[in-house]
Amino acid sequence: MEKETPENSNLQESRLGLGLAAIGRPEYINIREHPDEDKAESSYRHRAISLLEFAYQKGVRDFDTAASYGKGEQFLKDWYHQKRYSDVRLSSKWGYTYKANWEIGYKGPHEVKEHSLDKLLEQWSNAAELLPGLKTYQIHSATFESGILKNNEVFDELDRIKRTTGIQIGVSVSGDNQKDVISAAAKIKVGGKDLFDSFQVTYNILDTSTHRVLHGLLKKGKTIIVKEALANGRLLRNKNYPRYEPLYQILDEIASAYGVGTDAIALRFVMDHLKPSLVLSGAATKLQLDSNLKALNIQLSPKEIASLKKFHIETEAYWLERKQLNWN
Ligand SMILES: NC(=O)c1ccc[n+]([C@@H]2O[C@H](COP(=O)([O-])OP(=O)(O)OC[C@H]3O[C@@H](n4cnc5c(N)ncnc54)[C@H](OP(=O)(O)O)[C@@H]3O)[C@@H](O)[C@H]2O)c1
Repeated sequence: MEKETPENSNLQESRLGLGLAAIGRPEYINIREHPDEDKAESSYRHRAISLLEFAYQKGVRDFDTAASYGKGEQFLKDWYHQKRYSDVRLSSKWGYTYKANWEIGYKGPHEVKEHSLDKLLEQWSNAAELLPGLKTYQIHSATFESGILKNNEVFDELDRIKRTTGIQIGVSVSGDNQKDVISAAAKIKVGGKDLFDSFQVTYNILDTSTHRVLHGLLKKGKTIIVKEALANGRLLRNKNYPRYEPLYQILDEIASAYGVGTDAIALRFVMDHLKPSLVLSGAATKLQLDSNLKALNIQLSPKEIASLKKFHIETEAYWLERKQLNWN
């Protein structure tokens, strides 16, 4: 049932990009064990650069990283400056500092938030080395508590970056009040114009709570980037999540009808239900990415979308479970 004919090859309104959260540092949210993985920095560097090139050769043009993804920004820079592809769209984020320093089993928080002007200036000086491929620079996980949504000196600096480089300024959000943070950010103006052009948000079968606000922003021409479209891997059958078994069964049925993996169906759900500008794959291997990319060759029917939509859960329950996921 794959649809690959030239006349409908323009089916995909959403692009699929690659996020570097899982490939820039030895420990991240992993819901499956990876006991045999070589955790040396040189192995990660090799695997990351090889995955970036594989993705490009497969047609991926959007790559997302952050200052706090260990060496994620550096690996992206190394690959980009080596290849110099002129058609890539790179994005990064500022506001968290990576603290684990490649220490396996690090006990403290791996990333620490600081939404200050000093942190922006420090991290922008590194991210700017991704120009001219850098197209979007984002506040990493904006919250009301961090004070970032009222920080005028940061707004002025972001606006200066936007005017001097022509890149988009974005904001990423997480948590059970994503839609309130997005709505507040969308109202921020500098010099009478919207500061934020781009919004990066968690959206998947289990958490569609931002649908209405994102749909409104898309209609206004804003860029919407979806992250965690596989709920960090929880949407793929896992014995630790027996409560999702009815969802796993429906995903299996739809996946076997299209001859793709359930990962492609879960990604395609986001593309067909919301039609965001970009959906990020969090793939850590070529096999995973190859399987994720199959989402671009299919389209779900309204009936299939409706059958998956029913599995959304309470936003608070979703984020409570998300908070309990371990870094390993
Ligand atoms: N606050 C923020 O701004 C923020 C937060 C999170 C993410 N992001 C961005 O969004 C990107 C994607 O998010 P994410 O990586 O957290 O979540 P995700 O896409 O929901 O989940 C990715 C995980 O799913 C599993 N997976 C993917 N394809 C698979 C396949 N074919 N077979 C088996 N397992 C598969 C892998 O985990 P296992 O192999 O461990 O099972 C992979 O690490 C990140 O790289 C980052 O760029 C941003």
